[in-house]
Order: sequence, then C-alpha cells, then structure tokens
Amino acid sequence: MKEVYQVPASQSLQGDVIISGAKNAVLPLMAATLLCRGTSIINNVPQLDDVDTMADVLRYLGAKVELQGSRLTIDTRECDGYQAPYHLVTKMRASIYVLGPLLARLGQASVALPGGCAWGPRPVDLHIAGMQALSAKVELSHGNIHAHAGRLKGADFTFPISSVGATVNLLLAAVLADGTTRLFNAAIEPEIDNLVDQLNAMGAQIFGKGSNTLVIEGVAELQAAEIDAIADRIEAGTYLIAAAITKGKLTVKQVQPSHLTALIDSLTATGALVYCEDDSITLDAQRRTLKPISIKTGPYPLFATDLQPQWMTLCVSLAGVSQVTDTVYPERFQHVAELCRLGANIRVKGNTASIIGTPSLSGAPVKASDLRAGAALILAGLIATEHTDISDIHHLDRGYQNLIGKFANLGVTIHRHASHTTDCQTKTTPLLSLCG
Ligand code: EPZ
Repeated sequence: MKEVYQVPASQSLQGDVIISGAKNAVLPLMAATLLCRGTSIINNVPQLDDVDTMADVLRYLGAKVELQGSRLTIDTRECDGYQAPYHLVTKMRASIYVLGPLLARLGQASVALPGGCAWGPRPVDLHIAGMQALSAKVELSHGNIHAHAGRLKGADFTFPISSVGATVNLLLAAVLADGTTRLFNAAIEPEIDNLVDQLNAMGAQIFGKGSNTLVIEGVAELQAAEIDAIADRIEAGTYLIAAAITKGKLTVKQVQPSHLTALIDSLTATGALVYCEDDSITLDAQRRTLKPISIKTGPYPLFATDLQPQWMTLCVSLAGVSQVTDTVYPERFQHVAELCRLGANIRVKGNTASIIGTPSLSGAPVKASDLRAGAALILAGLIATEHTDISDIHHLDRGYQNLIGKFANLGVTIHRHASHTTDCQTKTTPLLSLCG
C-alpha cells in the first residue's frame, strides 16, 4: 500500500531532538561481523528499513540477527553462505559491503551488481578493482560479481577518487589478507573511523585512522567484539536545516559536533546563531533575517552531499540568489522538479543549481525520488502556505527513525496515511530504491 506524509503549513520548529545511530555507520559494522565466527554486538542501532535489509542479507548467509531496542546481536557461528542475491541487493546498494568479508573469510563471494538509482549510475568498479589488487579473481556474469581467491594477499591500492563504500570494502577484505595492505586516498568520513575501531576491537591491525592513508597488517583470524555506532550526522544536519528554514530554535542531542563543521560554518554564514556543547548543537534563527549561502559538496570534511537537497530547500526559502553544486553526485537534482512544483525558482546547469529565493511556497502533491530528496520535500512543506502531500515515503523509512515522533516533539504534526493516488506518477522503478 502506497503511503503519504501530509506536512502541515507554516510551522516553526522549537525544542530538542535526540539523534539516532548512523545508518551509514551501522551498515559497514554489520557487514564486518561476517569476518569472524562468534556473537557480535552493535549498540546505538537505529530502527530503519536499511538495517532490516542488511539483517536479511546476513540471515541469508546463515547468521542469526536480533535487534532489541537499539542493541543488535549478530551470531555468525553458522555463517557459511557466500551469495548475496539480486532481490536483496536491489533493495539496498550497501549490500555490496558483504563482498570484502566473504572473500576474506571464505575465499569466495557472489554478489549481485547494484543498479543505478534516482540520480544516475552508482558504479562499483573501485570495489572490484580493489579486490583484484588483493589477488582476487573477479568475473561479472548475469548481473552478478563472482569473486574468488585462495587467501587474499596484501597490496598497495590508490583510490583515484574518494569512495566511502570502496574504502569500506577494502578494509573488510584486507584485515584477513596475507601481508600488508596500504590504502592511499582512502575516504576519511567518520563512519570509516567507526569501522576501524570495530575491526581493531576484533583483533585487526589497522593504522592511520582518520587519515587518507590506511595501513592494514593482515591477521589470521578475528574475534567477535562489541561496538557503539556513531550518531547520524546527516539526520542531525537535516533537523538543524529545518530549524533554520522555519526560523525556529532547536537542539540536536547525542551528536558529535566535530562531524558537522562544514554545515555549522554554512549555517552560521546565513546569519543563524549556532552553538555547540560536547554532544549537542543548538541553532537559533528566531527573529533573525537569514541570507542564502552557496555551497559546494565534497568528500568529508567538506559539505556532505547527503545534506545538499535539504540545503537547497533552505536556499529556496530565503530571499536572494544562491548556487548549490554537487561534486560527488553531479546529477543529484531529482528534488529540483518537485521543489519547483511547490513554487521554487531553480535552474540546473551541469552539476550546479541556481536558486532565486521564494518568500513562500504553495502546498502541492509531490513525490520523494530518494531518501534525502524526500527530506528536502518535508522541509519545504513546513514553509508552504498550505499542507503538502509527499508520496513514495518508503524512501524516508530507510534513513530517518521515528520521523513523525521527532517532528511532533518539535511542535509539528506530520500525518501518515494511505495514498489513493493511482496515477502513473507514483509508480517508481525498484532501481530508485538503490540510492543509499
Ligand atoms: C556512501 O555511498 C553513502 N551510503 C551515501 O549516502 C553518500 O552519499 C556517499 O557515500 C558519499 O558520501 C552509505 O554509506 C550506505 P561513494 P557510496 O563510493 O559509498 C563514485 C544516503 O543518502 N564511485 O563515496 O556508494 C560514485 O559514483 C546515501 O545515506 C565510483 O565511481 O558513495 C560517487 O560519484 C546516498 N566507483 C563517488 O565515487 C565506485 O566503485 C563517491 O561515492 C564507487 C564510487
């Protein structure tokens, strides 16, 4: 059954919101448990569809997976499967994270190739090149990656571009390889550091955490460990931007402010008041006139591409002209057409959108094309003059835990109800669900 979020008009966010564990940290942490036989624990896990999907992948491989509150227990003592099938990989691109650990522990892996997504191709050539660098034999047939190796052999590998996922996969492969692996131009997102901490707790020998050069001394075996997932910096950023858009005052709690410096700098530049404590960030935009600020996304610690759609909504809401450039995903602009349906004035040329701010938007039915585009539409609905109906909200269920409850605590009542729309507009191909 298709469901819709109905976002009420003109609400100002006031209050606190507890930020959940990071989806993009938990998915690699879950894949890493395949590297050992034992019972691993991951704390601060959000209840999200993507976590459920990764749990289904691990169960398909023979693991027992149980989430109690935010504590995830993964028992891999009888985990001998090495195939991740298309019907699961189609649901979530990050399923490819099982490639590295399966190759490393079992010497073989068959993982369906993830397809493209709402904003264009999502290649995995760097994942494959990395496995080959570690002496795996890889062939592609019938839409699957078939990889096998005796024991992987440590090697040097330089990422031609910064890739979070490929860095994850190579880390997960190299920790059990024979010899030393050096990764150059590795991604340095906080989620990578979280994974390095978990792997080292399992007995891995990884050096250079937080730098673009990671050195991994392969070991023969790893043991199950317990790890806390870091806070979701993208969820936190989404709520901070929402507070700026609605001229509210909001504190995000249980976060790491150092993970959001680019966003904090940009929000401050708009004229909003932003101040940080050890594990919280407060934004106060009450009675303040904000101005739109142009941003350009890039690998961490630059402005996160996963906050680009939400930032565009902020620029739409402020009088003035600004530009939003995405250097990570040059085509990540599916939200533009939907924002324009609400009355926004945006032109896209290449990987840059030029925005002329609009004092107010008019409510209208719109469609979420992917997770972060859906978030941008919710933020736009908050400042529209009438309510806004957002369809295809299953995308949001992938990455925002308890969205209705968290907004309700901030004074905004978002309704979720069955959609009776049958027009072709609401039909999205399964590939659209691959962004994430
Ligand atoms: C991760 O995706 C995140 N997903 C994405 O978040 C995020 O947008 C992205 O990193 C960038 O920060 C998860 O962590 C589950 P990349 P990933 O490899 O690993 C190109 C969300 O909304 N590339 O860092 O797939 C790629 O096309 C999601 O939570 C290759 O060319 O991203 C892109 O242009 C969306 N070949 C650039 O690298 C490859 O083999 C960065 O992608 C791999 C990537």
